[in-house]
Amino acid sequence: MKKSKIIIGILILAGIFIYTKKNYIMNSLHSGHNMESSNKDSHNSMNDHGSTHKDPINNNINKFSRKLLIPPLLEGTVKNGVREFQLTSMEGEWDFISGTKTKTYGYSSPILSPTLLLNKNEETKITITNNLKEATTVHWHGATVGEKVDGVHNSEIMPGTSKEIAFKLNQPASTLWFHPHTHSKTATQVYKGMAGFIYLQDEVSGKLELPKTYGVDDIPLVVQEKKLDSNNQIITESNQMEKTHGKIGGYMTVNGVISPTVEVPKGIIRLRLLNGSNATKYNYSFEGKIFHQIASDGGLLEKPVSMTTLTLAPGERAEILLDTSKISRKFYMIVNDNKALEIEPKGIALIKDIPTSLIKIEPITKDMLESVASVRKFSLSTKGDKNLINDSLYNFKKVDFSVKKGAYEIWEISNSTGGMNMPHPFHVHGTQFRIIERNGKTPPENESGWKDTVNLNPGDIVKILIKFENDGISIYHCHILEHEDGGMMGQFEVK
Ligand code: C2O
Ligand code: CU
Ligand code: CU
Repeated sequence: MKKSKIIIGILILAGIFIYTKKNYIMNSLHSGHNMESSNKDSHNSMNDHGSTHKDPINNNINKFSRKLLIPPLLEGTVKNGVREFQLTSMEGEWDFISGTKTKTYGYSSPILSPTLLLNKNEETKITITNNLKEATTVHWHGATVGEKVDGVHNSEIMPGTSKEIAFKLNQPASTLWFHPHTHSKTATQVYKGMAGFIYLQDEVSGKLELPKTYGVDDIPLVVQEKKLDSNNQIITESNQMEKTHGKIGGYMTVNGVISPTVEVPKGIIRLRLLNGSNATKYNYSFEGKIFHQIASDGGLLEKPVSMTTLTLAPGERAEILLDTSKISRKFYMIVNDNKALEIEPKGIALIKDIPTSLIKIEPITKDMLESVASVRKFSLSTKGDKNLINDSLYNFKKVDFSVKKGAYEIWEISNSTGGMNMPHPFHVHGTQFRIIERNGKTPPENESGWKDTVNLNPGDIVKILIKFENDGISIYHCHILEHEDGGMMGQFEVK
């Protein structure tokens, strides 16, 4: 009988240990600490399925019992050759924590948005109705469009009104996204839930042997964090720390759900990753499994690039292929050391092989580089609590420079944030660019395709080759949304 007493004693002690641990993690998460620091406490005990990772950020909420939300796919309706869509920006309620209600924003849904399926070179018209109590705008991130439809200038949709937005995209098949770009309110509107995927397809992508059954073997995944208060409501205000560093921490969501699970076929699956967070850089991995990046922000790469971890900064996207044919158990997508998504291979996939090559991307030639019309420098820095580009804050009345339409330029961007240890993802509107150098070297293979957002860690210097085809005012900014709203942005005119 002694033995059982000892066992009971051990169980009680273990219980206390787990309980205090849990509380410690909860506290450190809610005090606005950087995730990476709280993750150091995440090792040990309770591994399921042999994984060495725990779930430090989400702290076992939902325990992978909730299905991954797959946003509905909208194909629109074609009238007189124009593909038409309707979206409503609206308030809603969402149960991040089962049995509770959190007030949210979304497009035609309480959170996020249906995915829009668009075709290259097809006239497209999207009618947005604003049912919010505040003005909003819609920006088509990564789309090569001009000022009139970009969602920045003169594009506010007032409460209770609608706006028709028409464009035609002549860029390659890619995973783009859309989100509000409301002056000084972008961060809070996105944080409350407004963001959607665009799947842009073309003839080339249609012919490739890639997984393309939406929601089955071709799955959009947006990772975002949410800080909730004690009433489970989203904390939209930013404290001083968050204004300087961006809103980092809170629960980690995938497609709006904390710790979801998804079934995928056994074979090749395609995941379209979007870092839709306000401010956190994400490292993605799959318990050490090899995966293959096939696309960057603006389209497919020339060939798959294999890797075991991938980093995306806020705003960036990547498409990856993962072979699940030999995996006979559940496994996890790990994001910054947190089990973000449980994946269960079941059934048989349509696609069984990783292609050896994908598309041809226009090479960067000597001629292009010699034809460059201007070389510009952008220095990203922090002074006090302000994040600046070329030592200044955004002034909507001032056009910083003008650019000749159709001419190549080289932009040299440097992160001169000294000891602040702050990455800044630099994003340019209305175009896709190519990275020609990262820190004096040719960029890694997975950054050699089309990009619209490039991450710069402190000290990084990146050179990009860029050109603009659409008239009007366009902008560039840091995609840490609190930095953008704080004025880490500039504008230029294409003419
Ligand atoms: Cu997604 Cu101006 O940004
Ligand atoms: Cu954008
Ligand atoms: Cu920044």
